[in-house]
Amino acid sequence: LSSYPSYIDLLPSIQTCNITNLPENYFLKYYLYHALTWPQLSFVAVVRPKNGYAAGPGKEYPKVVGYVLAKMEEEPTDGLAHGHITSLSVMRTHRRLGIAERLMRMSQRAMAESHRANYASLHVRMSNTAALHLYRDTLGFEVEKVESKYYADGEDAYAMKMDLRSMW
Ligand code: ACO
Repeated sequence: LSSYPSYIDLLPSIQTCNITNLPENYFLKYYLYHALTWPQLSFVAVVRPKNGYAAGPGKEYPKVVGYVLAKMEEEPTDGLAHGHITSLSVMRTHRRLGIAERLMRMSQRAMAESHRANYASLHVRMSNTAALHLYRDTLGFEVEKVESKYYADGEDAYAMKMDLRSMW
């Protein structure tokens, strides 16, 4: 056995990356629900272990250093099929290398090509300058509205959107 690990094998490592980088955390079954329902939309960045992939003596799973967890909105209030970025993060050791940009572009492309998503949406803390730069300046998302006290600690969120119809 020298199988390449599946996305599902990596879920615990994705969860560790999320817990390390963000206060918004989820049960493992929520990651699993994303993986089973929209397998095209979520991506990881991994560091390969020195001794090869899991499934043999001395082998280990690759370490997840970045992920994007994404879904299709199940009951869109505007009636338009669209994707949603549930969570994105990159380990501090691997930031400013273009990993988040690449993960986001891959997910957006898959939303358009696999699900004919009209647009992608997300929420971001108003104080999160790094993520705001990424979404607005690098990727071209626009602020749709402010959602007051969106986060558990009372901080407001920008609700952002990006049109994907040019990728159909
Ligand atoms: N300051 C300003 N702009 C930044 C910064 C920063 N510290 N980091 C990234 N950017 C912007 C820049 O525009 C950058 O382009 P440039 O390097 O050409 O200037 C662009 O983002 C792309 O940078 P990447 O290297 O792709 O971003 P990175 O891989 O470092 O990840 C991320 C960015 C995800 C925001 C990372 O800092 C992180 O994990 N932060 C903590 C978790 C987080 O805030 N996640 C987003 C929450 S919102 C949500 O999940 C929907």
